[in-house]
Amino acid sequence: MRYRKLGKTDIQVSAVCCGTMAMASAGTFGEQDDELSVQTVHAALDAGVNFFDTAEGYGDGHSTEVLGRALGDRRGQVVIATKVSRQHLAEPDLIQACENSLRRLRTDCIDLYQVHWPNHNIPFGETAAVLEKLRQGGKIRSWGVSNFGRADLSEALEAGHPEVDQLPYSLLWRIVEHEIAPICVANEVSIICYSPLAQGLLTGKFARPEDVPPERSRARYCKEAADLSFHVVNELRAASEELGQPMADLALAWLLDRPGVASVIAGMRTPEQARENARAADLELPPEVVDRLTTASQPLLDALDTNPDMWQAGENSRYR
Ligand SMILES: NC(=O)c1ccc[n+]([C@@H]2O[C@H](COP(=O)([O-])OP(=O)(O)OC[C@H]3O[C@@H](n4cnc5c(N)ncnc54)[C@H](OP(=O)(O)O)[C@@H]3O)[C@@H](O)[C@H]2O)c1
Repeated sequence: MRYRKLGKTDIQVSAVCCGTMAMASAGTFGEQDDELSVQTVHAALDAGVNFFDTAEGYGDGHSTEVLGRALGDRRGQVVIATKVSRQHLAEPDLIQACENSLRRLRTDCIDLYQVHWPNHNIPFGETAAVLEKLRQGGKIRSWGVSNFGRADLSEALEAGHPEVDQLPYSLLWRIVEHEIAPICVANEVSIICYSPLAQGLLTGKFARPEDVPPERSRARYCKEAADLSFHVVNELRAASEELGQPMADLALAWLLDRPGVASVIAGMRTPEQARENARAADLELPPEVVDRLTTASQPLLDALDTNPDMWQAGENSRYR
């Protein structure tokens, strides 16, 4: 496992992070057995993963609770990232949300506390001041943002220093490369990538656009450019067969090579997925494979607009 530094901190995280959204047992990924989630967390730990991402919004705290239970006495070995929901960004709500997450995680300090989505009704300076207060009080070790576009990230950088911007980024969704990634690179804000497997499409589990389950086909690469997306999937499949490595590992390794990326948050719901995804951190792709995948995904990037919101198009975009 390779480890990398988060932003300007001295926090070292595994290049592959364990995403726990499916452990909510609700929403996009459907039901999940808690015991299987606990085993998945243990398999990730055993494979060298020290970075875990959750959110108070995942199953109304359920994913966070399961993660806290699974970590148990191994808490000291890991970096816990969680997120505060956009409706909790004013002072009393933010402090209460932090306390709730600490309790669910069974810890006294959150390593990385992220603002899940911007709330344009609350000036970010107010939120940043509370986050700093929490940091100085030892409740959190560092803070970051998620889903912050060019304008929001610039506002955050005026208010303080977010250590990360957690963004949707994969071979099927490279839109962050247009504007956000260069700002992150210039300001030592680590990019941590969510949905790096395009919610499973890049693992090869769906052969055709019609096979993608409805909850997952809401993503705009499916709705607006399914054929071009499956062209990328097919190229990835061919490259994976030639290299003799799983598609998921190629997709994650390609992403880990992009400028500014510190870690990829792969959703994991079984011990097998945890072990396989963790292996991607040690996969060094030959430069011609990197080029092949970059070239294969370029027509898709060109066909999509520049709105990074993976689900909401046009004026409904939550990015600014
Ligand atoms: N900040 C945000 O707004 C935001 C939004 C979304 C996600 N996230 C974070 O990012 C994490 C990952 O995103 P994601 O779950 O949307 O998408 P993802 O990582 O792209 O895909 C996860 C899905 O891919 C499948 N999978 C994973 N590894 C596999 C493997 N080795 N072999 C076969 N299938 C595999 C599983 O599907 P099956 O269910 O079919 O097994 C899993 O549910 C989340 O858990 C969460 O922590 C953050």
